[in-house]
Amino acid sequence: MIRGIPTLDDLGDVSGKRVFVRADFNVPIEDGRITDDFRIRAALPTLNWLRERGASVACATHLGRPKGTPNPKYSVAPIRERLAELAPDVELLENLRFDPGEEANSAEFAATLTEGFDLYVNDAFGASHRAHASIVGPPKTLPSAMGLLLAKEVEVLLGLRNDPKRPFVAVLGGAKISDKLGVVEALLDVVDALVVGGAMCFTFFAAQGRPIGDSLWEPDQVETCRRLLQQGKTIHLPEDITGVDANGNYATFGTRLPDGAKGFDIGPGSAAAFSDIIMDARTVFWNGPMGMFEDERFASGTRTVAQAMADTKAFTVVGGGDSAAALAQFRLDTDVDHVSTGGGASLELLELGDLPGLAALRGAPNAHD
Ligand code: 3PG
Ligand code: MG
Repeated sequence: MIRGIPTLDDLGDVSGKRVFVRADFNVPIEDGRITDDFRIRAALPTLNWLRERGASVACATHLGRPKGTPNPKYSVAPIRERLAELAPDVELLENLRFDPGEEANSAEFAATLTEGFDLYVNDAFGASHRAHASIVGPPKTLPSAMGLLLAKEVEVLLGLRNDPKRPFVAVLGGAKISDKLGVVEALLDVVDALVVGGAMCFTFFAAQGRPIGDSLWEPDQVETCRRLLQQGKTIHLPEDITGVDANGNYATFGTRLPDGAKGFDIGPGSAAAFSDIIMDARTVFWNGPMGMFEDERFASGTRTVAQAMADTKAFTVVGGGDSAAALAQFRLDTDVDHVSTGGGASLELLELGDLPGLAALRGAPNAHD
């Protein structure tokens, strides 16, 4: 039991038992091919733990957002193929979101999922912020546990939230502050410094009264950014920006962008400053790229931050999604302490300290013996 949540050991003898494992195999697929199988490999320790102890295992995942109707575009067939190579005797059911009952959290759909199974294991960290049928339904009826991946994610992320080694620095990027406002406010309460890059910095610049040219920003979040800046916490914003000028030519600017200019990355001075902050920290959480790293001209801010994450002696945690993809692109993903398999889930766990999927497991029939 960890934080009132049953773990695999709390399932008792699993030999001969039929176990339903909810995994998050929502992986990127292009032309029918998986381009990154990180989430599939991350579930193997749990699948192997169960198989080695004689359980028979079936798993299920969602893939994309097919909105309750079967759609060949979102078939899990490529995942089933990869899983057959990694864990040959593990069955994979069809995309959970082909049924409207999944997202509607229907009790009937949950009952069809658990029928014929003895035990439920949730190892779908990346989907545990969703109160969907396969996440919160089965623990109402079956003895349940969190898998090894889910347990690791919870331990690492709640560790950051509750007792980080200091200085604790959070590095946030990405396009929108509105997507991350809750977690920004929660993080400001626990971190020693917040570092802001990505297009979201332009809304902060606007709040400081700096001209941002034609850069991406969120006018309705300017007041919020002003309030965050006035809290007296340490917030590091970029000191220079790279992007294009009004004629579309590559250019580096200070923190006042000329008319018609667009910022697409933090500049070299900011990248060096952010890197120093990461090197001097003892705990670093990073979520969101510093710029449009898919375009090589605007990848250096994100690459410098990724390299500092790899080089620092601090305990380093990377929130999933784009920052994990950036790390993998720069081949630095094995050089940080923990790459979360959850994007939204990692932010929500940091913000709220709990997730619907965890709460459900705490209420499972075997959670109170
Ligand atoms: C993710 O990729 O973020 C998770 O698998 C959750 O997917 P969702 O955002 O479509 O619920
Ligand atoms: Mg997502």
